[in-house]
Amino acid sequence: MSGIIVIGSQWGDEGKGKAVDVFSAEADYVIRYQGGANAGHTLNIGNQKKILHLIPSGIFHSNTTCIISAGVVLDIETLVSEIQAIKQSGDYLNKPSKLLISDSATVLLSYHRVLDQAREKAVNGVKIGTTGKGIGPAYEDRASRKALLFGDLFTDKETLKNKLEKSLSEKNFLIEKFYKQTPVSLENILNKVLSLREELKFYRCHDTSSVIYKALKENKKVLFEGAQGSLLDLLHGTYPYVTSSSTLSGSALVGSGIGPGFIKKVIAITKAYTTRVGGGPFLTECTGEEGELLQKTGEEWGATTGRMRRCGWLDLPALKYSARINGITHLALMKLDVLSYLKEIPVCVAYTLKGKTIYDYPVYSSELSEFKPVYTVLPGWQEEISSMKKFEELPKKAQDYIRLIQKELDIPVEVVSVGPTREATIWRRNLF
Ligand code: IMP
Repeated sequence: MSGIIVIGSQWGDEGKGKAVDVFSAEADYVIRYQGGANAGHTLNIGNQKKILHLIPSGIFHSNTTCIISAGVVLDIETLVSEIQAIKQSGDYLNKPSKLLISDSATVLLSYHRVLDQAREKAVNGVKIGTTGKGIGPAYEDRASRKALLFGDLFTDKETLKNKLEKSLSEKNFLIEKFYKQTPVSLENILNKVLSLREELKFYRCHDTSSVIYKALKENKKVLFEGAQGSLLDLLHGTYPYVTSSSTLSGSALVGSGIGPGFIKKVIAITKAYTTRVGGGPFLTECTGEEGELLQKTGEEWGATTGRMRRCGWLDLPALKYSARINGITHLALMKLDVLSYLKEIPVCVAYTLKGKTIYDYPVYSSELSEFKPVYTVLPGWQEEISSMKKFEELPKKAQDYIRLIQKELDIPVEVVSVGPTREATIWRRNLF
């Protein structure tokens, strides 16, 4: 068993980009298996900040093959820009075999984005606060069997045009008649696709699930890189304020087309506090000055949309829920250094509802807004920790914060991140 699934245990932005980049130093393969360019994975390499939306975060390691598997919705414009930016910034994509894209991945085009944004703008609609990247409409296309797949891009022009027309006609009807916006031109889309495919043809892989299967059979080290967070899961998240894919560990198997027998660990990337972008319930949210200070110290604004993230304290019942639905075996605790300024750190251990104490996360409750968090308050360590290399070097109060999380979740914290760079990482045991 040499497969490790890496997921976000909260509402995304936990630091998966940095974690997967660091883990990739030991990996042979890194696979993105769900979501799309709604993800924004930030990596700090040397003094350069790199943001990836679609390409797996292992791309900056020379020994790692990156795969985009069938479960991803592939914005081919963003992908080509990302490929070009990576090529310009160094030798990272020096051979096309470093990046394999599944012929079965769903293609996301401009009309998906137009529709997503039109819905968010609609006066009477529910405002989810999506990233506007077309994720929902692209997954809808897949489910209704109208999607263009990555492999379809390489058929002859006439067949491609027919497929595009089929997918676009319904969308244009909605865009024009329902949302009263300008329809998207088939000719423009076709021309765009024809030029983009020239850039993308080198990375085409007929069946990535077979490549991953062989790698796992040969005991190669394979990382499955999740995007977004567990509480944004389409089925088990805070619906309707969720994304349109499954963000749970099980999605790594389905999205990549492999069975569960190869999985050795499920590592949950967990921020030492909580953030959320977009709408939806957030029981431990801090508003006012307290929230703003956390936001500023943690540099909490989106890598994809630039939106400010809502900030709040760690929510242990929410994490326990996440641990249960993902089968989390290990934790990587991120951004612990951000909390160093605090004299006291509240941690939510339960909620109250109408005088009753509740220990389970109320993922589906019509009374959600009436739940109040119950906090235990830990003393802060108020000491710079970013240069520390070992768990034992951390201040005792920081160790206690970590121990509380381990004890409450009954899951070991394997990695502690104390700063944005690769070097600011404390390992407590080997990854693979
Ligand atoms: P969508 O995925 O763009 O449809 O957005 C649905 C919800 O998921 C919104 O609340 C977004 O802010 C949130 N979301 C989507 N992708 C991410 C992510 O990578 N990090 C954090 N939140 C995300």
